[in-house]
Amino acid sequence: MTSRTAIVTGAARGIGAATARRLAADGHAVAVLDLAEDQAAGVADDINAKGGKAIAIGADVADEAAATAAVARAAAELGPPQILVNNAGILRDNLLFKMSAADWDAVLGVHLRGAFLMARAVQSSMVESGWGRIVNLSSTSALGNRGQANYAAAKAGMQGLTKTLAIELGKFGITANAVAPGFIETEMTKATAERVGVPFADFLAHAAKEVPVGRVGRPEDIAAAVAFFCSEEAGYVSGQVLYVAGGPKA
Ligand SMILES: NC(=O)c1ccc[n+]([C@@H]2O[C@H](COP(=O)([O-])OP(=O)(O)OC[C@H]3O[C@@H](n4cnc5c(N)ncnc54)[C@H](O)[C@@H]3O)[C@@H](O)[C@H]2O)c1
Repeated sequence: MTSRTAIVTGAARGIGAATARRLAADGHAVAVLDLAEDQAAGVADDINAKGGKAIAIGADVADEAAATAAVARAAAELGPPQILVNNAGILRDNLLFKMSAADWDAVLGVHLRGAFLMARAVQSSMVESGWGRIVNLSSTSALGNRGQANYAAAKAGMQGLTKTLAIELGKFGITANAVAPGFIETEMTKATAERVGVPFADFLAHAAKEVPVGRVGRPEDIAAAVAFFCSEEAGYVSGQVLYVAGGPKA
């Protein structure tokens, strides 16, 4: 397969790290971008040690100058980016009456503004080369979830952004799709268990009972779906939302 330059945001751990490793294994050069630069460096080192090619970039995707500079650095060190995975994310859960405007802004800022800024920054190199893949991380929470007015709005927004990018950029050989995970075992869900005071093992067991395939998801489950959308053969699949949740959703 053709080797491309990929940027994966929020790739220091969890779903983003698994996606960076998977895209590297598929032959791509990967910019492992995260706020946590040290942890991102660990993921990049590991990819390089296994024979892949990766660099770590410390950046806040919600910061316009930082997002632009990160894309420029990836282009300078790895070549013009042709794959972008907007995965960086945070939670600031609360019921509506307790949710602060700051918590609303922070969540919308990282997920939606971050995805917009990164997509805008990479589109020129994708357009110039006539080939591109943008994959945005949505969530089953886009369908609505108690205590997540900010996150549900952001994740539904990711779907609207995805479909619009697909419409605007399709004629340049660029596809845009979204992966909407269900419950995945990561530091994010671990933090939720801690917040509600439930041991993580019990939290996982409870979540697994709700999933038709009888288990919670792993970061690699999501990485595999992202890798499909990034593949050469997925060039006629665009503007789609794939729920990867161990059962039917949407
Ligand atoms: N874990 C789940 O069950 C689940 C379900 C549905 C969707 N998702 C989505 O998948 C994505 C990854 O989730 P995860 O569970 O791996 O989360 P995680 O918390 O384990 O990892 C998120 C990463 O994003 C980074 N990040 C946060 N803000 C950033 C910013 N402003 N700029 C750059 N990097 C930033 C963090 O440092 C962290 O490394 C998120 O978008 C999340 O909303 C997760």
